[in-house]
Amino acid sequence: MRINHPANLKQEKLRTWVEEMAALCKPDNVHWCDGSQQEYDNLCAQMVTSGTFIKLNEEKRPNSFLAFSDPSDVARVEDRTFICSVNKNDAGPTNNWMDPGEMHAIMDQLFDGCMRGRTMYVIPFSMGPLGSPIAQIGIEITDSPYVVVNMRIMTRMGSAVIDVLGESGEFVPSMHTVGAPLEPGQQDVPWPCNPTVKYIVHFPEERAIWSYGSGYGGNALLGKKCLALRIASVMARDEGWLAEHMLILGVEDPQGAKSYVAAAFPSACGKTNFAMLIPPAAFEGWKVTTVGDDIAWIKLGPDGTLRAINPEAGYFGVAPGTSEKTNPNAMKACSRDTIFTNVALTPDGDVWWEGMTKVPPAKATDWQGKEWTPDSGRKAAHPNARFTAPASNNPAIDDAWEDPAGVPISAFIFGGRRSDTVPLVMQATNWVHGVYIAATMGSEMTAAAFGKVGVVRRDPFAMLPFAGYHMADYFNHWLNFGRNIPNPPRIFSVNWFRTDKDGNFAWPGFGENMRVLKWIVERAHGRAASIESPIGWMPRYEDLDWTGLDFSQEQFNEIMSVDREQWKQEVLNHEELFIKLYDRLPKELLFQKELLLSGLWRAPEHWEVAA
Ligand code: OXD
Ligand code: MN
Repeated sequence: MRINHPANLKQEKLRTWVEEMAALCKPDNVHWCDGSQQEYDNLCAQMVTSGTFIKLNEEKRPNSFLAFSDPSDVARVEDRTFICSVNKNDAGPTNNWMDPGEMHAIMDQLFDGCMRGRTMYVIPFSMGPLGSPIAQIGIEITDSPYVVVNMRIMTRMGSAVIDVLGESGEFVPSMHTVGAPLEPGQQDVPWPCNPTVKYIVHFPEERAIWSYGSGYGGNALLGKKCLALRIASVMARDEGWLAEHMLILGVEDPQGAKSYVAAAFPSACGKTNFAMLIPPAAFEGWKVTTVGDDIAWIKLGPDGTLRAINPEAGYFGVAPGTSEKTNPNAMKACSRDTIFTNVALTPDGDVWWEGMTKVPPAKATDWQGKEWTPDSGRKAAHPNARFTAPASNNPAIDDAWEDPAGVPISAFIFGGRRSDTVPLVMQATNWVHGVYIAATMGSEMTAAAFGKVGVVRRDPFAMLPFAGYHMADYFNHWLNFGRNIPNPPRIFSVNWFRTDKDGNFAWPGFGENMRVLKWIVERAHGRAASIESPIGWMPRYEDLDWTGLDFSQEQFNEIMSVDREQWKQEVLNHEELFIKLYDRLPKELLFQKELLLSGLWRAPEHWEVAA
């Protein structure tokens, strides 16, 4: 097949690779994406015609579209995700592994002719501002126009990336197919995918990605979880930096002093809400701005500070639960120029999801394309329904969000969803203790995440599904990294989800989290007070700013108390994780566990912050 390569393509290696992949996948056409608005508009129009997209009401939701996925293709597929390192042990016990030679043979067979009847799109993309020393380039080959338009929102995509690559720049080859070739004359479906065969494969030494059978989000938009976390975490280990599943936000105090923090939360813990937090009215003069909502790449800067960039250019956010009340900035971000997936369609051509408004629409079309009413007993939107929105639509975007040098990080925050045990906030006593807290972090499952609802899943650094190598080596990398920083950021643990004895949330959360954030930022600069608890440094009631909120010392104690019986269970669960990782587990973490136990047993069985 003759391929129309772009005029600015200078790199022989890339040209040859694209030709080889076209020969393997056997598409009807090859289209190099230039990233232009016109190309985007054409693809969207084409998907409206093919039934993949529904154009939303131009007045209510300008320049926006809705897709319903196949009901079998609604989330990341962790059990089909593989890290194919040369040595099995390098992938570690928390990743699926297969021998790279064997896996390549499977991929070669699956990809042979996989794009028959379809167009092969070649997407040059940059993770991070174009040309930033922290950015990385990838080339995604896909047969999904849905992927192309999503990648245009989520990454810096198109022609300019080829210029940055030049003759010899490195790129991560990223192969994707929906795995649904078309026979001559065969009618396509609105959401092609492979209902039975799915593989999300990473070759860490080769720095290559092969994804087969799914058209959905993290399985198909390969810049995000595959490149920016799994492959980048391996690059970061080898090159001495950090690729993290973290949001980055800026906090400005009334005097105009600015601090940045990076925070890791497992899926379904309100990460996007925290990244876009609006301080309560009583916090006059305080501002929170967003650098990123999901991923942070962090390098030691020339001045000894840690510099972080958001490698993404858009938000692939969970829609259900997002509202004017919980996250007005996200609502504005997706008020236009947005691709919705698996939310409900209202009769006036707009979208709706559970939690968006108190009163649901009288009727709608649900995410499976069926008629829906509030009493139909089904959810209108899938719990993992998403919006893909440009970051530049966020009214609280940070001025420096595209600064190629990154923003300086003062604190790391780790938080899971825990109805008990873990207090609202505490500070690690030092870097190693911080690594322990992050390594042993856990979160209760929700309908949008994985596993049994309510059960705590250990999710070290919120990286369990995203570390591209042995989790214990990853802990070790963090320990080493901290040793080489002159003034390492302080490390904190938070939990917005403690419940009272009736099972109701005991902390109001959302904007009120500003009270905790303020303490964290001041602590990071050595300005706020705290006391020593059995498990770390904690604020007393009077150390948090309560202006404008009616929250008593008793309520505070309820979410800050440390219960030995609960922590005994907790440490047993830490132990389980440590045994799983034992062959490579850094000894520091074992000693840290002993320190934790002795702290707990020297304190009262039920410890409360003294009034
Ligand atoms: C995500 C996730 O989609 O963490 O960002 O699952
Ligand atoms: Mn995420």
